[in-house]
Amino acid sequence: MTFAKITQVAHSVPKKVVSNDDLSKIMDTNDEWIYSRTGIKNRHISTGENTSDLAADVAQKLLTKASVSADSIDFIIVATITPDSLMPSTAARVQAKIGAINAFAYDLTAACSGFVFALSTAEKLLASGSYKRGIVIGAEVFSKIMDWSDRSTAVLFGDGAGGVLLENTGTQPLIIGEKLQTDGSRGDSLLSGLTDINTPFATVNYESKSLSMEGRAIFDFAVRDVPKNIKTTLEEAQISSEEIDFYLLHQANSRILDKMAKKLGVERSKFLQNMQEYGNTSAASIPLLLSESVKNGIFTLDGKTKIVLTGFGGGLTWGTTIINL
Ligand code: ACO
Repeated sequence: MTFAKITQVAHSVPKKVVSNDDLSKIMDTNDEWIYSRTGIKNRHISTGENTSDLAADVAQKLLTKASVSADSIDFIIVATITPDSLMPSTAARVQAKIGAINAFAYDLTAACSGFVFALSTAEKLLASGSYKRGIVIGAEVFSKIMDWSDRSTAVLFGDGAGGVLLENTGTQPLIIGEKLQTDGSRGDSLLSGLTDINTPFATVNYESKSLSMEGRAIFDFAVRDVPKNIKTTLEEAQISSEEIDFYLLHQANSRILDKMAKKLGVERSKFLQNMQEYGNTSAASIPLLLSESVKNGIFTLDGKTKIVLTGFGGGLTWGTTIINL
């Protein structure tokens, strides 16, 4: 039996930090409004770094930390909705940048759930026995797709990347419970990247190209559907909420985390949080939090920590994996 194991974690963010006060100089907003509604104080914003630059930096850090060569990597999956280009994929760009000549590479599009969906996929690739070593990264330069004239969304997001090295050296299952969900019928409440049809045969122009969001609808989705998903995942895995050491949820909004902790009857301190420094980094938020928590000594990768990873966002998509870290 082959078990995947997360053997390294790493993250990377653009150098430029933009505070709420900085934003208040370029749009009609203020620190009090942003912080009280979201828990966000700062975010990192690209001044040139593209998604594949951040992702490749994460991949290189993973290789260096693990002392493994790039040509030993079998696959690279990058979860992103802000790729440098649709073709080649960001993962293909990362493969070239780090020289992972034996790796197949592709992007996975599931918005803020992207990392959880990608981790689930990668674990199955390794469990199949066909592959030994893979990299999974969540990376976003969200600032590229934001409508900077819309203060109700522009203050929420940030840029960053985080990722994990997975190897087939585990002595126990990595994922001990999971439930991934999608509801495409509610997809229009979080929308970006529509492309016009403009050919000699037809013209269809879409109004909205950059990000648009129905804030209230997304808030309600997050606090209604997501705790149910976590509860069901725990029940089906026959694991009690007390057995979970930490909950690493998508970092959209601290009020969402407050409500989720309450609904699940879990101490709020078990819900780790770093959106105050990074904002909502979409697919990058969970691996960024994972990597930073290891860096800060909150837990290690010794296989003894039980963690809930839950993503939720555009699609709509949402999902939980319970992992032995
Ligand atoms: N600064 C100051 N005022 C603002 C700002 C801003 N940046 N943005 C909006 N306002 C104003 C609005 O114009 C409105 O003014 P009005 O009453 O005069 O019309 C007022 O503030 C209240 O706006 P609401 O939208 O009612 O504020 P609400 O309390 O709902 O908070 C928020 C908005 C923070 C977006 C909330 O709906 C939310 O957290 N939604 C969840 C969305 C989310 O986290 N999305 C992340 C992406 S999806 C994902 O990752 C899952």
